[in-house]
Amino acid sequence: MRIVFLNPSGQIGGAERSLLDILASLRAAEPAWALGLVTTANGPLVPAAEALGVRVVVVPLPEAVARLGDGGARRAASLPRLAAAVPAVAGYVRRLRRAVRALAPDLVHTNGFKMHLLGLWARPRGVPVVWHVHDFVARRPLMSRLLRGHAPRCAAVVANSRSVAEDVRRVCARGAPAGVWPVHNAVDLATFTPGGERLDLDARCGLPPAPPGTVRVGLVATLAWWKGHETFLRAVSLLPPELPVRAYVVGGALYETADSQRSTDELRETARRLGLDGRVGFTGYVEDSAAAMRALDVVVHASTEPEPFGLVIVEAMACGRAVIASEAGGAAELFRSGVDALGHAPGDAAGLARRIGELAADGGLRARLGAEGRASAEKRFDRARLATELVPIYRAAVRAWS
Ligand code: GLC
Repeated sequence: MRIVFLNPSGQIGGAERSLLDILASLRAAEPAWALGLVTTANGPLVPAAEALGVRVVVVPLPEAVARLGDGGARRAASLPRLAAAVPAVAGYVRRLRRAVRALAPDLVHTNGFKMHLLGLWARPRGVPVVWHVHDFVARRPLMSRLLRGHAPRCAAVVANSRSVAEDVRRVCARGAPAGVWPVHNAVDLATFTPGGERLDLDARCGLPPAPPGTVRVGLVATLAWWKGHETFLRAVSLLPPELPVRAYVVGGALYETADSQRSTDELRETARRLGLDGRVGFTGYVEDSAAAMRALDVVVHASTEPEPFGLVIVEAMACGRAVIASEAGGAAELFRSGVDALGHAPGDAAGLARRIGELAADGGLRARLGAEGRASAEKRFDRARLATELVPIYRAAVRAWS
């Protein structure tokens, strides 16, 4: 079997971590398969995939196409922008088709909205396309219309949670492809471990070392507008001042789509307005997120919109940290609140503050949740499961299309 994966970026965000885990899992389970990857830009994803024995080709996406999208906060109607980009898109599809053809795939797996469409347009005749959907579609009006129109031509859909699978079925309605399969992401349990290197978060943030006994609480996320940075900062501002908590915003800007993310400067300004000077640090983009998580006592996930999956939640559980997560969407499928993590309602800063307060005051509870979190990760989120679930989906798609 030859599979070519198409990814709309060269950066490593959640969807790309998931892709790398799939590649590693397939490599281990099906060593004879040929795996190829086409990305739209150079970036850390390229060497990371190559290190797994994947043949990577970069087909650079023109700026005009790269900046399209309706995932932004303002959700501007992008139809005019889309129309202006038509010639650039057509040229890109030709280049992409050449690159895919050269890799001679039996199946194409697309990993992002742009690639779901471009992949269908560029695939060689008769080759099935499997969409791997990582985000809710209904949130994006333009993309919903486009996906609904194209869904009948795709062989199967893999969704990163039951919640996203439901959303795809709803959006595509009668045009939904034969199979929409929820496949939860998984993590590398040997990288995300309770023990190992810890980042010096204070040094990273330019803060003086925190006094012994300080409980370190961090929001680990990209700077996408819906990741709940304001909710987190407001929650920290609501904590009693005598509570020995230092907060960290871990993560940096990642996406190319206009309007879709916060800047660290904006967030610093918010922290200043809330009177959090010295109580919160900003690490910027962190390469080794496991080392950052291990340096935290509590890992917070605070998305204000239902989270499609929430890899950070599972990574932090695998690191044996106490996790507080926003309990909605796919994220709510990942843990049992009070057992292996704590849940709070999306956007509820006061509720989040109460959860942080509970954990800051109770080392025993933190340790219990951390141990249960690791146990759940080992049971449910070992990446060996990915190949077990995906291989039959790929085989069925190839059979159905040959
Ligand atoms: C996207 C989703 C996120 C998920 C990741 C991996 O980034 O927004 O929830 O964890 O994909 O599937």
